[in-house]
Amino acid sequence: LSYDDKFEEINYCSELQKSAINEITKEFEINNKKLNEIIEHFRNEMNKGLTKHGQTVAMVPSYVTGVPTGKEVGTFLALDLGGTNLRVCQINLEGGGKISVKQQKYKISDSHKTGEARHLFDFIAECVDKFLVEFNIDCNSTRRLNLGFTFSFPVEQTAIDKGTLISWTKGFSASGAAGKDVVFLLQESLNRKEVPVKVSALVNDTVGTLLAHAYKYPNTLLGVIFGTGTNGAYFEKISNIKKLQSISSNADHMIINVEWGAFDNEKKVLPLTMFDNKLDRNSINPRLQIFEKTISGMYLGEITRNVLLNLIDRSLLFNGYSSKDLNDHYSFETEYMSSIEKDDTSTLETVKQILEESLNLPSTTLTDRQIVKRICQLVGFRAARLSSAALSAIISHCNVIESGCNIGIDGSLFLFYPGFKERIMNSLKELFGPNADKIELGLALDGSGVGAGN
Ligand code: GLC
Repeated sequence: LSYDDKFEEINYCSELQKSAINEITKEFEINNKKLNEIIEHFRNEMNKGLTKHGQTVAMVPSYVTGVPTGKEVGTFLALDLGGTNLRVCQINLEGGGKISVKQQKYKISDSHKTGEARHLFDFIAECVDKFLVEFNIDCNSTRRLNLGFTFSFPVEQTAIDKGTLISWTKGFSASGAAGKDVVFLLQESLNRKEVPVKVSALVNDTVGTLLAHAYKYPNTLLGVIFGTGTNGAYFEKISNIKKLQSISSNADHMIINVEWGAFDNEKKVLPLTMFDNKLDRNSINPRLQIFEKTISGMYLGEITRNVLLNLIDRSLLFNGYSSKDLNDHYSFETEYMSSIEKDDTSTLETVKQILEESLNLPSTTLTDRQIVKRICQLVGFRAARLSSAALSAIISHCNVIESGCNIGIDGSLFLFYPGFKERIMNSLKELFGPNADKIELGLALDGSGVGAGN
């Protein structure tokens, strides 16, 4: 199927407009040959990352070797620092795969994200303190609670409770943290504020997601986030992790945090468009997280906005008019794309509302709205295709094409973007044929919190 057959027809106003949209459609199209090329490169990059430290795809050993059996019991605190919110959770593993969670979210301000790291970690410690008081949790200086810290950024981990931040991602840039042990930084802040909590595990959100899903479904191979950012973690044979010196455990598998957001930072295989390159150039981390920038919720709206602005500048959309709002970086939210893709009214009423009310554009025509919907579909569809490439690479690497596997997925894109899962599934079918039916994509809700508790 070519992309033109996949999406609704547009009532073009001119040949020029039609050829421009066809051109853009082609640029976002990824045929199976290209997809396989991407997968092959992905597999090579994974192998490099397993062999040597400091590679583009970091392949971070998590030092988690145990798989939860579902029989574990106990109470833990978990802290989840990832995208927009900070979450503090108290987790009760009740055995038999049963889990109960109490949790509270705290908003992280931009000044905490981009100021000094010390202030960010002090703020986190204050939130933990508030949580303990609010939920009346029994602990004191002689009976400190253990806390699992889900820290969803690239970390070079050296033990289950030690890891230095490689670089911030997803809009964070707090100074004085890169190259430091984030467990130490958090523990210092907790101690300074006399919060009776010991940070005893550091995990990535994907590792948490994998553990939480494996707690329920033993056949789980992979934990994935499609949210503000994107990344995955999977069970790897320890003998394959060549860069690992020695570990004091007789386990044969360890969870690897792939950090696939950085895949192809060199821009070698990804079919990047000028709209992607513009986003990258204007971002706070240019030439970094290139794969993530084509897939995750933080960026899809901005790619779409770049395409719309280009069409406006060529007088092929909105009669050449923009608005102050649409001219602002990141003003076209990925959430709008979800609503726009969902709109199947003949006059595209939701699209109209978003463009004219949320973005203050002058009155739009049906053709304008059809074009906007098409651009959202192209960007959303490509994201799902590229996501399927990452999943395929790991499925092939782990040699489970024949046997199948469970994949636990969390994140706003997977939860709320219409058709995201179906598009990934269809792509997997094109790649694996009937074997794709043995791949189970499941929602791993609350993975990052519960997993850290594990
Ligand atoms: C970014 C982070 C990664 C995290 C992902 C999903 O890619 O670098 O650690 O897992 O976002 O939150």
